[in-house]
Amino acid sequence: MKKGFSKVGIVLAAAGSAVGLGNIWKFPYMIGENGGAAFLIIYLLCVLFFGIPIMSAEFYIGRKGLHRWGWMRWLSMAIATFFFSFYLVVTGWCFQYMYLSITDLLSGHSASELSTLFTTFTSSTTIPMFWMGVGVLLTAAIELMGVKDGIERMSKILMPILFCVLLLMIGRGLTMERSYLGMRFLLYPDFSKITPQLILNATGQCFFSLSIGVGALATYAGFMDKDQSLVSTSYRVILLDTLVAILAGMAIFPAVFSLGINPTQGPELVFVTLPMVFDSIPGGHLFEILFFLLLSIAAITSTISLLETQLNFWEMNAKMSRPKGILISSLLVLVLGALAILIHPFFNLLDELVSKYLLPAGGLIFAIYVGWIANKDDVCREMNVRIKGVSIGKFLFVLIRYSIPPTIILVFLNGLQII
Ligand code: TRP
Repeated sequence: MKKGFSKVGIVLAAAGSAVGLGNIWKFPYMIGENGGAAFLIIYLLCVLFFGIPIMSAEFYIGRKGLHRWGWMRWLSMAIATFFFSFYLVVTGWCFQYMYLSITDLLSGHSASELSTLFTTFTSSTTIPMFWMGVGVLLTAAIELMGVKDGIERMSKILMPILFCVLLLMIGRGLTMERSYLGMRFLLYPDFSKITPQLILNATGQCFFSLSIGVGALATYAGFMDKDQSLVSTSYRVILLDTLVAILAGMAIFPAVFSLGINPTQGPELVFVTLPMVFDSIPGGHLFEILFFLLLSIAAITSTISLLETQLNFWEMNAKMSRPKGILISSLLVLVLGALAILIHPFFNLLDELVSKYLLPAGGLIFAIYVGWIANKDDVCREMNVRIKGVSIGKFLFVLIRYSIPPTIILVFLNGLQII
C-alpha cells in the first residue's frame, strides 16, 4: 500500500506546491508592472472564480483514480515538463542570490551595477546551469524519500519557516519612513489601469500561483484520504497561498517605496531592487540572506510537485519504478532547462507560453472533463460542502460546467485582442 498524506499533510503539501516563486518573485513584480491595487483586485476575483472550482475539479480527477486520467496524463506531463524546466532556471537564480547574499557580494553596489550583475549572470551559462543542477538534485533527493517522508515532512518543516521570515520582513518594511506609500500602492486601486492584457495577466498569475492547470494537484489528490473534503482542502490551500502572496507584497512594497524606488521593472524586482533596499536599511544584510533563503525554500516545495506529476506519468504509462522515473525526469528537465539558459528567446517563450496560455488551457480542459464528461451526480456529491446550511456542490458544478470554460476562452480572445 502506498503511504499517502495525512489530513494536514495534504493541505501543507498542496500549499507547498502553490506557494512558490509565483508568490514571492512573480506576484510582486506583476503588481508593480500592472499598476498596483487594480491588478490585485482582478487577481483576487480570478482566485475566487477560477481557483476554488478548478482546484476542486483537479482534486476530483485525482481522487477518482489516476488510471482514469487517460489522455489528460499526456497533457499534464507535457505542461509539467515545460513548466518545470522554466521554473528550475529561476530557482537557480534564487540559489545564486542566496549564495551572493551569504558571501556579502551584493552590498555596496549602485542600482546600475546591480542591474548589470543580474543581466551578466542571467545571460551567462556555467553558473546558472550549476545552480539549476543543484535544484534538480535537491528536488530528486526529497522525491526519493517518498510522498509522506519526503514531501509531507519537508513541507511541514519548510512552510512555517517561510511564514516566519515573511513576517519578520514585513515588520522591518513597515517600520521604515514613508512605508505607507507602498501600502497605498498595494491597496488603493486605480481602475483606469484595468485592461484586457491586465486581465489575461491576472488569470495566468492565478493559475501559476495556485498550481492549477497542470495536474500537479490532481496527482497529490491521489494520495489524499477518501473522506477528506475536496472543496474545503482547496479553500484552505487557496487561503494560504493568497495570504503569502499578499504578505510578500507587504514585505516588499513599503520598503521599496520608502526608498523612493520605482517598482515597475519586472522580473528584476527582487534581484535588483531588493538588494538595493537591503543595502540601505539597518540590519539589511541579515534580512537579505533570510529573503533569498525564503525564496529558495518556496521554490523547492514547488518543484517537488512538478516532479511528482512527471512521476505519476512514468508510473502509470510505463510502469516505471520511482527512482528510475526520477532519473529520467531529472535528465529531461536538465536538457530543456539548459536550452532555456543557452537560448534566451526560448526562456522567454517558455515563460509567456506556460504562464499565460498553457496553464489556463490545462484548467479549461480539466473543467470541461469534470463538467461535461465525468458523472454529474458523483461530481456534485464529492464537491458537496455545506456553508451555513447551504450545500454548494451543485453551484460549483454549474460554475465548472457553464461559466469557467467560456470565461477562460473569453479572457484568451480578449487578451490576444481578437475580440
Ligand atoms: N504555484 C507555484 C508558484 O507559485 C508554481 C507551481 C508549482 C505550479 N507546481 C505547480 C504551478 C504546478 C502550476 C502547476 O510558484
